[in-house]
Amino acid sequence: MATNKLEGTKVSLTVGAVFDRAVAQAAALPVRLSSVTIPPKPDTANIMSGLDLLAQLEDGSAAAAFFDPQYRGVLDHLGYGNERSRQKARAALAPMDEATIGAFISDLERVLRPSGHLFLWLDKYHLVEGVLPWLAGTQFNKVDMITWDKGRVGMGCRSRRKSEHLLVLQKTPTRAKGIWLDHCIPDVWREVVGRDHAHTKPVELQRTLIAATTRSGDVVVDPAAGSYSVLKACRQVGGRRFYGADLVGPEIDQAAA
Ligand SMILES: C[S@@+](CC[C@H](N)C(=O)[O-])C[C@H]1O[C@@H](n2cnc3c(N)ncnc32)[C@H](O)[C@@H]1O
Repeated sequence: MATNKLEGTKVSLTVGAVFDRAVAQAAALPVRLSSVTIPPKPDTANIMSGLDLLAQLEDGSAAAAFFDPQYRGVLDHLGYGNERSRQKARAALAPMDEATIGAFISDLERVLRPSGHLFLWLDKYHLVEGVLPWLAGTQFNKVDMITWDKGRVGMGCRSRRKSEHLLVLQKTPTRAKGIWLDHCIPDVWREVVGRDHAHTKPVELQRTLIAATTRSGDVVVDPAAGSYSVLKACRQVGGRRFYGADLVGPEIDQAAA
């Protein structure tokens, strides 16, 4: 018995030492928990950081991308005091700082193929302040802008918001011929959307833009997908492969609506 107890102690000390060494080695590795990546699945929701999603997509593999950052700017700027349930749901979403938005745009440029399009959603605040610093050093060129008339009046300290803006960026080489196939899209687009997410974007407009700028078999990316309106748009077009992610699942957004 005594020998067994002694052996037991010896074993547990050995295991403890191995464990301590493993912890020390792990602590010395330059690996963050958030960089432990799970391969993203196409045509579905991926609950992960959009930056981790993009890191796993190959250079030049996508024909089009949508990016709708979780801005804090306009909310901070307008200083809403009377937050109703939709504003509370919005405030609960993870905001992105300027450096994070820049990192997304830089990686979206890498993932897009030459002449691929990035559709960047802007609120009123960023439209006026400008977003050019985010594009510095990239091959993105400003080629168009579409204003979305939401058909529904929102919040505002002075005028009440009824629109958002979609900046159309194209990766070098910039050209429309043979790339942009639909020349009947108006630059003011009216579409009323459901309330399944605090920031859901118009599916029909995004469907029209996907059909105009991609072909069958092409990849479309949305690294901050929210309600997955771009996935819905891809499904309506058909034949496109979608890669999208969000830190939270779409069902959480539905519950908060
Ligand atoms: C403005 S909403 C997108 C709405 C979306 N375009 C739609 O139509 O529903 C921005 C989303 O970014 C998500 N988000 C914030 N930080 C993120 C990150 N690092 N990676 C992925 N998603 C992120 C938020 O959870 C939020 O759902």
